[in-house]
Order: sequence, then C-alpha cells, then structure tokens
Amino acid sequence: MNDAWLPEQYARFRAERERPFHDLLALTRPIPGGRAVDLGCGGGALTRLLHERTGAAETVGVDRSAAMLAGCERHAGGGLRFERGDIEAFAGEGLDLVFSNAALQWVADHGTLFARLAGMLRAGGQLAVQMPANHDHPSHATAHAVAREPRHARALGGHVRDDPVRAPEWYAAALERLGFGEWHARVQVYLHRLAGPEEVVEWVKGSLLTDYRARLDDDAWEAYLADYRERLLAELPPERPYFFTFKRLLLWGRLGA
Ligand SMILES: C[S@@+](CC[C@H](N)C(=O)[O-])C[C@H]1O[C@@H](n2cnc3c(N)ncnc32)[C@H](O)[C@@H]1O
Repeated sequence: MNDAWLPEQYARFRAERERPFHDLLALTRPIPGGRAVDLGCGGGALTRLLHERTGAAETVGVDRSAAMLAGCERHAGGGLRFERGDIEAFAGEGLDLVFSNAALQWVADHGTLFARLAGMLRAGGQLAVQMPANHDHPSHATAHAVAREPRHARALGGHVRDDPVRAPEWYAAALERLGFGEWHARVQVYLHRLAGPEEVVEWVKGSLLTDYRARLDDDAWEAYLADYRERLLAELPPERPYFFTFKRLLLWGRLGA
C-alpha cells in the first residue's frame, strides 16, 4: 500500500482541523519534567505545542508516514524528537502522557489498543485521545457505498474501510475498567463553514479517502473520486455556504488517580 498522506491536502483546512487539537490539549494536565508520546503526530508543529504546553522534559512524536514527517526536524529539540514507526509497534513504559489527536481511527481493535496504551502509563499518567466519529454523515457513508460498487470493489480487491471507532459509551466503560480513576468522555460537534458542498470532497481527500487512494492506481482513483463526488453532491443540500457538521470524540483519563 502507498503512503497516501498528502501534507498539502491535509493542511488545506488547517485552522478547522486544529480546533479539536486545542480542545484536547485543554483537557490535558501539565506534566512538568515528565515523558510524553504523541501517536500519529503528523507534521510536528502541534507536537511542539503539546511539548511546550505540558512542560514535558521529553516528548516523542511517532508517525508512519514519511511524507507527513518530512520537515518535522525543524520542530525538534529541547527534549522533543520524532520517530518514524507504527502506533501498533510503539512500546512505551512508565509514561506520564499518551496523547493522540486524529490518528487512532486508523488503528484496529480498540479493545486491545486502549489496554495497551493504558499499560504504557505510570500510575497517575494521562491518556488523551481525539478521534472523528462522523460515520453517519454522507461524506463517510458515501465513500464506503462507492467502494462497494462492483467496478470499484474489483479495483479495491473488495476492501471497504472498517471504521474501528466505537460508541462513546464504550470508551467511558473502557476507561473505567482500565483503571482510570478520573476520566472524561464526550462527543463534540464541530461546524465547518465551507464555501459549498463540493469542498467536502477536498476535506475528505485529505483524510478518510487516503485509505482508498492508497489501494488504487491513478486511473482507478480518478474513477472512484468522480463517482464519489457525483453521489455525494446529489445527497448534500446545494447551499452556499455549506455547514459541514463533524462529530468528534474527546477522551481523557488519569490512571489510578
Ligand atoms: C489526521 S493526521 C493527524 C496528525 C496530527 N496528530 C494532527 O493533529 O494534525 C493522522 C496521522 O496519523 C498517522 N497514522 C495513521 N495511522 C498510523 C499508524 N498506524 N501508525 C503511525 N501513524 C499513523 C498518519 O500518517 C497521519 O500523519
């Protein structure tokens, strides 16, 4: 599979995409002199902010995409460094903070994953996670419906993205069961004011659709994208501006506190 992350495409809605990061950071308590990891850190600018705001002595940003990590070195230093690697393979121990903004929706089996993340923390350590939970919006539902159409299903080898993100209640119970004595779980609705519904296509090209892009050659991708655009625009109201509603899960917990 290709590395389909396109930093320029992802950055097109930078201010809009950064809002949940700031909301997650606001839930996170300082860890002066502590050790943190930012899983799926992307380009590194937000990891820099995380490192400074938490007062950590050491923060590691981990991401598997070389394209996203390109240029991250300019944010490194003063205890912040970056590593290329898979979240699935990252092994932390005795950490004060495991942080992840908009990345764990790409990792399967959240039962195993959240237990593993909790196991990386020292007593009193924090877990802070933000993930999209917008499965029911036409932007997402249409992407999977088009992938199931015979022509695209053949090109994709039958792949349809199986979103691992569970219901908010599931995370609340999981945090409690995993020993987070203090925790917070909420769904927050963001509203993005886009010029028109066609901009939704540009938005998801920088995120959800990378999963399909990575599995298709150029021609098959163009065909998929054309069908996606046509079906999506038939479903969304043709209003200008278009208000793109986007639900996200914000989760925070402190272990054993
Ligand atoms: C939507 S971006 C978020 C980047 C950054 N956290 C931010 O808030 O801007 C998701 C990032 O997760 C990374 N990612 C996705 N799955 C991953 C995995 N299994 N292991 C490591 N990185 C992963 C992608 O390469 C991408 O940079």
